[in-house]
Amino acid sequence: MDLAPVKKLHIAVFISGGGSNLQALIDACSDPDFPAQIGLVIANRPDAYGLKRAEKAGIPAIIVDHKAYENREGFETALSNALNTIHQQHPIDLVCLAGFMRILSAEFIEHWAGRIINTHPALLPKFGGPGMYGTYVHEAVLAANERESGASIHYVIPEVDQGPVILQQSVPVLPGDTPETLAERVIAQEHILYPEAIRILAEKLL
Ligand code: GRF
Repeated sequence: MDLAPVKKLHIAVFISGGGSNLQALIDACSDPDFPAQIGLVIANRPDAYGLKRAEKAGIPAIIVDHKAYENREGFETALSNALNTIHQQHPIDLVCLAGFMRILSAEFIEHWAGRIINTHPALLPKFGGPGMYGTYVHEAVLAANERESGASIHYVIPEVDQGPVILQQSVPVLPGDTPETLAERVIAQEHILYPEAIRILAEKLL
């Protein structure tokens, strides 16, 4: 008896760098029962290593270099056009920001309201907001003598990092931790949480 094909979210993943979170999503999507597939990867930097990960996985990727546009409006128009190129083949249901380092406008975000999520390497709402990205987050956590940090997958709203949290997991801050050792412990949780968050969204959106 033919089982009904698993209904899947078609996701677009936005990256700027190494793409380890993209890789976690690629790996999750390789399970035929996982309720999502990656329709498109968009990188705002031509040198993003994540582009190689997309290529290896056979996923369409488009570079939309923010430096090529005079302003954010032009950049975001190009982002939307890139999304629309794939939209015609299969509508993108969910935009996943994964190590994406550009702040998106309220207009762009509101167009995707409820269908755009992000990973942040801290226990939001703590240690979030403008300027709180990458190593700056871990430096701030250590400077505050926090006993724990963690990873948060959250909805994106116009206010940076203030959207409702979907999933969160704490990790201990250990004696002698450096921003690098803490980052490594946190990002390992991101890689676990992000696919799980997409499962939750699949329940809601499919
Ligand atoms: C991750 O900690 C992410 O939360 C932050 O950038 C780091 C690198 O992400 N925004 P990736 O390896 O490019 O997915």
